[in-house]
Amino acid sequence: MLMTKKIIITIDGFSSCGKSTLAKDLAKKLNYRYIDTGAMYRAVTLYLLRKGIALSDLEAIDKALASEIKIDFDYDKITGKQITILNDENVESEIRSPAVADQVSAVSAIKNVRVFLVKQQQALGLEKGIVMDGRDIGTVVFPQAELKLFLTADEQIRAQRRFAELQGNGIVLSLEEVLSNLQKRDYMDSNREESPLRKADDAIVLDNSHLTQEEQVNWVLTQVESLI
Ligand code: DC
Repeated sequence: MLMTKKIIITIDGFSSCGKSTLAKDLAKKLNYRYIDTGAMYRAVTLYLLRKGIALSDLEAIDKALASEIKIDFDYDKITGKQITILNDENVESEIRSPAVADQVSAVSAIKNVRVFLVKQQQALGLEKGIVMDGRDIGTVVFPQAELKLFLTADEQIRAQRRFAELQGNGIVLSLEEVLSNLQKRDYMDSNREESPLRKADDAIVLDNSHLTQEEQVNWVLTQVESLI
């Protein structure tokens, strides 16, 4: 696609809606940078779990954020997939483990964790030409973004998708367990005090329950074309 102007595209929505897949495909088509911010919350969670830092120990968490946790990204040259690097270690598959999935909503509800990560996310968007997905990207990180999407999909379909993804990664959980983790996270993410998941007033809702990946991407590209 011929681009005349670089914009910021934000994608927010519930767990396992396909935000990352859509963000990654759009970034590829537009030659933009793609950032999965959930991976950043997962990396912080992994660090705290490994160190045995209790989520109630806010002092230890502040210390870790200030001087111990460094998050970087690399990209798989073939698939374009983001690879999350925590303190120079590739943690991409470990941050998808059930242990991290279980704690990440609680970690992401901690104010200073959000302040720490939001600052980094805003810095990544300074030059625009970015697709960022998460829960508060259109509301808090880039409220001035040119295109904001809010993705939804039927809960059962989302659980099926996550189940298949986990199976593909060799993680064995029942469909019921996957659905229950998803429901728990959606509830916590939507009801926390700090930047709860909500649709920005000017975000466009996209329900992808019955859309193919190609249909979704093409639909969004049409929106982008009208903006650049
Ligand atoms: O997108 P994900 O499932 O990898 O995100 C993991 C968790 O991180 C999710 O339960 C909520 C939190 N999160 C958040 O609070 N804000 C973001 N911008 C991204 C993720």
